Amino acid sequence: MSSSRILAVEGEGAFWDDREAVAACLREEVPRIPPWFGYDEAGSRYFEEITGLPTYYLTRVERSLLERHAAEIAEALGCGRLAEMGSGSAKKTRLLLDACAALRPTTYLPIDVSREMLELSAATLGEAVPSLDVIGLWGRYEAGLDWLRRSPDGPLVVAFLGSNLGNTTPAERDALLGDIAAALRPGDGFLVSIDLVKPGGELVTCYNDPPGHTAFADFRLNHLTHLDRRFGSRLRLEDFVPNAHYEHRDEVVEGHLYATQACTAAIPGLGLTLTLAAGDSINVGFSAKFDRDRFVADVGAKGFTAQAEWTEPDPAYGIFLFRRTGA
Ligand code: AVI
Repeated sequence: MSSSRILAVEGEGAFWDDREAVAACLREEVPRIPPWFGYDEAGSRYFEEITGLPTYYLTRVERSLLERHAAEIAEALGCGRLAEMGSGSAKKTRLLLDACAALRPTTYLPIDVSREMLELSAATLGEAVPSLDVIGLWGRYEAGLDWLRRSPDGPLVVAFLGSNLGNTTPAERDALLGDIAAALRPGDGFLVSIDLVKPGGELVTCYNDPPGHTAFADFRLNHLTHLDRRFGSRLRLEDFVPNAHYEHRDEVVEGHLYATQACTAAIPGLGLTLTLAAGDSINVGFSAKFDRDRFVADVGAKGFTAQAEWTEPDPAYGIFLFRRTGA
């Protein structure tokens, strides 16, 4: 018999106020709309469409790795408490949870800012995976990880799947890996999937719409709609052309909205004015690509050792399991 409950982990008082964080992103040299603006209701729908594009390989490759290796991964995890950062609909994680629950009593702790998403995934998983306990942690990654750090409930694996770690700047990634390390005790696990470096041409094809599709354009332009709804930015969608390119030096795909003419927009809710010349752009997302050896070394430097990996050579993609080392 499965059970489920949702805990608010943002602490006392109001939910996280992101105004300062959004304003700081928009004040960067190339103004940036932060990644969580991509996933309101419409954005989540557009992203779902992206995952179905014939050229967007990430979701398919990860699903196929999980389908082929779920039992082996579940065995390697070695414990019955699995937390997941940014769990969303937890559709792919279901493959892993099935395999975990077949081995041992399992508690799943999804961390997500959307209470609706947590309720939905708890209900769906509760029905689909008998004997699974679900404790939804409602809040940002940082708050969820802090709750886990204080929880006395024994061995734990934190999963960060969907290649979501790539949607961070190097500084954000560094801080996040530090928070994950701090949440875990020696012997606990960190399961993470990443998209590996590959020729730029393949990435440009993957991150732009193929002929006859508009999912990427809709997803990127929706960042402006969301910004307008939250803070009254009044930028006109028709003044922007979406496109993604690959920055070889930094090994990152960048999604941008290019202004087709000069525009100035006061954003009253943030107390700032955005001024763009024709050809200037707004960054609407980083998708970092990783070199396998450098990634293992970078995670290792945060206090982990690599235990196992499940990789696909083409398109290059990997799921990695690390163990937290002693303090
Ligand atoms: C969720 N994440 C792995 C996507 C990616 O491929 O980086 C986010 C994204 N979707 C479109 N552009 C970026």
